[in-house]
Amino acid sequence: MSYTIEHYRASADFLRARLGGFVPKVAMILGSGLGYLGDQVEGAIAVDYKDIPHFKASTAPGHKGRLVFGTLEGQKVAVMQGRMHHYEGYSYEEVTYAVRVLRLLGCDTLVVTNAAGCVNTDWKAGELMLITDHIKMFSESPLRGENLPEFGVRFPDASKLYTPRLRQVARDCAQKLGLTLREGVYFYCYGPQYETPAEIRAARVLGGDAVGMSTAPEVIVAGHCGMEVLGFTLLSNMAAGILDQPLSEEEVLLAGEHAREDFSALVRACLREM
Ligand code: 6GU
Repeated sequence: MSYTIEHYRASADFLRARLGGFVPKVAMILGSGLGYLGDQVEGAIAVDYKDIPHFKASTAPGHKGRLVFGTLEGQKVAVMQGRMHHYEGYSYEEVTYAVRVLRLLGCDTLVVTNAAGCVNTDWKAGELMLITDHIKMFSESPLRGENLPEFGVRFPDASKLYTPRLRQVARDCAQKLGLTLREGVYFYCYGPQYETPAEIRAARVLGGDAVGMSTAPEVIVAGHCGMEVLGFTLLSNMAAGILDQPLSEEEVLLAGEHAREDFSALVRACLREM
């Protein structure tokens, strides 16, 4: 399935009709176990993905599958509680579809969050990481296929996908809050199996600090259509082969609960200051 500009416009028109003049500025994608920020939105208008034309459902655990519009820390936000992943069987075009719709609605900034495995052996599970860059060179691009010039150019620059200004805002906010904020490179692996110890060693040699199954596709598409991006990773567990223990989805979701206070405080402060 190839989407045309009309598909994106139809989804945006449907949402606009529900929003009664509300224009979101900051799109937010909340990852595994991190969706609770969406429940704190003021004046919330929630729309289930299944009701939006051309949207796909999110089937991943800890993902509610709805868009929440409203205000958070004075920012007009559109919060995706749950995202689509390639491992669910969706194409990268489907995985990133909502980003373009939110761009058409008026969003010029994307805040992405995820839970991911920690590859950097100097760090601990439970810590937060500011994403400075990503590696997604072993899988297809979400921009593959006909370029839609309404969104951006055929060969977009990717040298500053994670906006330097917003990274500085995040650093300042973490410092004010007294939080440790690691900074590193998100290494994208499409899953759904967690990586082997050999794959994690490879990711480390290549420059990855965290490894996860999301985020990079959406950020590529956001950059293509000119959005500024701020990305946070909750290092929910050490990646394979670092500790002598198997990885499980439960520990990922549990880490989200433990990090809840710090994570919301940091993201909220960034919304206030951006
Ligand atoms: Cl270790 N790998 C991947 N790909 N995703 C994760 C993870 C690991 N831990 C949480 N999410």
